Amino acid sequence: MHIKYSLILLGGVVGSLATQIPPKHFTAPAAAPTDQSSFYVGGSNDTITNTPYVPGKVFDRFIQIWLENANFATAIADPVYRKLASKGILLTSYYGVTHPSEPNYIASVGGDFFGLAADSLTYIPSNISTIVDLLELKGISWSSYLENMPTDGYQGFNYTNPDGYTYYVRKHNPLVIYNSVGMNATRGARLRNFNDFAVDVNSNALSQWIFVTPNLLDDAHDTNVKYAGDWLDYWLVPLLQDPNFNSPNTLILLTFDENGDYSINNQIYSLLLGGAIPQNLWGTTDDTFYSHYSTLSTVQNNWGLDNLGRQDINKTLNNVFAFVADKTGYQNNGLTTENLPPLNLTGTYPGPLNPNDYAPYPPPTNGIGAGGGPTYFPPN
Ligand SMILES: *[C@@H]1O[C@H](CO)[C@@H](O)[C@H](O)[C@H]1NC(C)=O
Ligand SMILES: *[C@@H]1O[C@H](CO)[C@@H](O)[C@H](O)[C@H]1NC(C)=O
Ligand SMILES: *[C@@H]1O[C@H](CO)[C@@H](O)[C@H](O)[C@H]1NC(C)=O
Ligand SMILES: *[C@@H]1O[C@H](CO)[C@@H](O)[C@H](O)[C@H]1NC(C)=O
Ligand SMILES: *[C@@H]1O[C@H](CO)[C@@H](O)[C@H](O)[C@H]1NC(C)=O
Ligand SMILES: *[C@@H]1O[C@H](CO)[C@@H](O)[C@H](O)[C@H]1NC(C)=O
Repeated sequence: MHIKYSLILLGGVVGSLATQIPPKHFTAPAAAPTDQSSFYVGGSNDTITNTPYVPGKVFDRFIQIWLENANFATAIADPVYRKLASKGILLTSYYGVTHPSEPNYIASVGGDFFGLAADSLTYIPSNISTIVDLLELKGISWSSYLENMPTDGYQGFNYTNPDGYTYYVRKHNPLVIYNSVGMNATRGARLRNFNDFAVDVNSNALSQWIFVTPNLLDDAHDTNVKYAGDWLDYWLVPLLQDPNFNSPNTLILLTFDENGDYSINNQIYSLLLGGAIPQNLWGTTDDTFYSHYSTLSTVQNNWGLDNLGRQDINKTLNNVFAFVADKTGYQNNGLTTENLPPLNLTGTYPGPLNPNDYAPYPPPTNGIGAGGGPTYFPPN
């Protein structure tokens, strides 16, 4: 959700309100994204360790980077986003799955948002599966990097830097919200801060599945797409030239959580980049209908994974990125712009996280997804 900066000055809280006014211009935290920075508070203590690489059918590494709250038209009007599109495949029919932010993040790793219609302190019980279960079953390494999260596996609702600004929020850290990851110390240690990112890239130790959350300024949440574009110029653009990040078989998705305008369908700017994209597809567009569930189905399709038995196996919402589906022979649904489901609905879904329309966590639905494997049922 957009935060409205109130100009109403209330006695004693003037100071703390003032410190939450975002700066107008992006300032680089270090010379390069591969440098550690004191701005990231917790210095790195280790390099991540991974299981041996498991080759995928089309890519060996998937990195998704999430920005915040912009209409497709707003992002594509900005030169940084247009220029990046010349190096990848622009997805012109990619949609968030609801509003506000947090349910979209939850959906991207668990295949459902369980009725959530708020940005709240949420804990999903440990018997609810995520993509992490499916990846680990096949020995595929994973991790997440959260900018300005102070310590690995941090549980807090947000984090305020010594400069008084709250840069990190839990609601944008999807895996920590699932207790099966956040409450498990081994897994929690794979939710890492940006100083660890610098160390892991320099050690050529990145995992095969990676979720990246920039801070509230750099992801456009408290700022705008231009500000986030300056961050992309600092962070992503040089990393695209770094073989430790963008290897020949790396697929990168740059996307937004949701659009900014609830009164139109939830279309967002999404771009596929990276060495896994054949050069003849650079600068092209793909108008296949995708949603955040497509990130699950595409990963399942690439590595032949099991499925979560949720919206990741819903044929309406789980189209696999076409350049991948074309190589694996997977059949997408062929939906066109005229008959897309409304993905701008909020609060209308019953579920355990909807206090106005409660329903218990449903068990997974047995079915076959894009990976061809069975539905995964967690123990208990
Ligand atoms: C590294 O360990 C120190 C000391 O325990 C801690 O303060 C710091 O936050 C840790 N770094 C990370 C990224 O967790
Ligand atoms: C951070 O968390 C505190 C409560 O723990 C809350 O009062 C505050 O509004 C939160 N700030 C942001 C930006 O999320
Ligand atoms: C915690 O995660 C590790 C690594 O995935 C797993 O082996 C272990 O079984 C998990 N522990 C619990 C209690 O689920
Ligand atoms: C969702 O978007 C459609 C247009 O695609 C619009 O007609 C509808 O009113 C929107 N719904 C809400 C709840 O704003
Ligand atoms: C699949 O997605 C469509 C579009 O959102 C929805 O109408 C339908 O109920 C979903 N099916 C299931 C089984 O959840
Ligand atoms: C999760 O576990 C609880 C109790 O431990 C049980 O009541 C519930 O049915 C389980 N949920 C699912 C979806 O398996």
